[in-house]
Amino acid sequence: MVTLDQIVQYAKSTGYIYQGSELYGGLANTWDYGPLGSLLKKNIKDAWIKKFQRQTPYNVLLDSSILMNSEVWKASGHVGGFSDPLTECKSCNQRFRADKLIEDHNHSVSADGWSTDQMYQYLIDQQVTCPNCGKKEFLPIRAFNMMFQTYQGVVLEQANQIYLRPETAQGIFIQFKNIQRTTRKKVPFGVCQVGKAFRNEITPGNFIFRTREFEQMELEFFVKPGTEMDWFNYWKQFCMDWLISLGLKKESLIFDDHKPEALSHYSNATTDIRFQFPWGFDELWGIASRTDYDLKAHQLHSGENLAYLDPDTNERYLPYVIEPSVGVERLVLAFLTNGYDVETLDSGDTRQILHIHPALAPYKAAVLPLIKKEHSGKAIEIFEELNQYFDVVYDETQNIGKRYRRQDAIGTYLCITIDHDTENDQTVTVRNRDTMAQVRVPIKELRNYIEKETKF
Ligand code: GAP
Repeated sequence: MVTLDQIVQYAKSTGYIYQGSELYGGLANTWDYGPLGSLLKKNIKDAWIKKFQRQTPYNVLLDSSILMNSEVWKASGHVGGFSDPLTECKSCNQRFRADKLIEDHNHSVSADGWSTDQMYQYLIDQQVTCPNCGKKEFLPIRAFNMMFQTYQGVVLEQANQIYLRPETAQGIFIQFKNIQRTTRKKVPFGVCQVGKAFRNEITPGNFIFRTREFEQMELEFFVKPGTEMDWFNYWKQFCMDWLISLGLKKESLIFDDHKPEALSHYSNATTDIRFQFPWGFDELWGIASRTDYDLKAHQLHSGENLAYLDPDTNERYLPYVIEPSVGVERLVLAFLTNGYDVETLDSGDTRQILHIHPALAPYKAAVLPLIKKEHSGKAIEIFEELNQYFDVVYDETQNIGKRYRRQDAIGTYLCITIDHDTENDQTVTVRNRDTMAQVRVPIKELRNYIEKETKF
């Protein structure tokens, strides 16, 4: 199994992910997505939108604001309750999330749903040690609100205080009525949104797994009360199938159904899809049946009637909601972990390779002139034709073997080589990243060939 250090090193050296603010010594736990990483993120988001919105009869898209009226966060419960249990080591003053300390102390214990008193008592009874200094005394646990606050306008006063959104979901709930009215969608229907979210996490870490700024892809799926368990199971399987169809190994994925006593107050069923990250299975995707909690809260707080009128039965009700919510960066880490390999070839040489689904690969193809002086003119012509349709890269430096290795290492799915025969028969050699098999393809069929080979 690949280690996290190997992934970090690989991501930095290839141009997938750089340390944020590196030039100025960095800013802890921030990461910038380089030329490859930004293409990978784009491809993941495109694949999600394609499957979750475009190819279903149910769902539409939304792009709501990051900055919203503070009342949104009061109504949703985030101002009062979006907090993590914070404790501090009495000796070294290092701060920790108490639930994580407990779970790291005993991997078979889940502190989900525990009160702060219960957690504190556990720390004392079990003599949990500080991971930083090894002492065993912690300060009482307090709730730490994770929302980033800022001010709108020029006056730094309470009335102007706003928050960076900690999830994209609330933007969907508060536009539920407008979306339903303008699209004339009938329940069941859903709203997909991709966008940044911000949380002042107490313990960010594990590279891009838990950061303070990240991107979410959320679906809020509105259903008739009483049908929610069927839809919950439907979306659970839909998410799992999507991950497997994009090449994540089945054995690296599990459902973790939350026990009834560990459910959040707004949920009547929740499951996580957990992926085997380098440190073990951990949450990739949360799927929750959220009842009518959010619409009810916004209806109450805003005074607006948010009920849906069923045009077939004339029934009026607040829909229940199923919410699959996943972080783009966690998917990036999962696909890098899943695909990274160092293979030993028959010749005894090794090659670094990223086995990533061609639809996600930053470059679908690399265009390579066999000999720079002789073949670069034709190669550039082919490159400029193909880059109208695909993300392709052109490379003419060093020998062809080295160029193949470079493309394998970053996951480029096909290598197209322009050689001595190209001028005569108008064909090129196309090499497959995974099998290394080579075929001759007529230039005029290249576009269709790439499309077919990299389709999702
Ligand atoms: N609207 C529901 C919601 O936000 P969540 O379980 O808090 O639920 C959903 O977050 C998903 O967002 C997680 O499963 C994870 O993939 C991603 N996520 C949450 N916090 C994150 C963080 N600090 N860094 C990176 N991804 C995060």
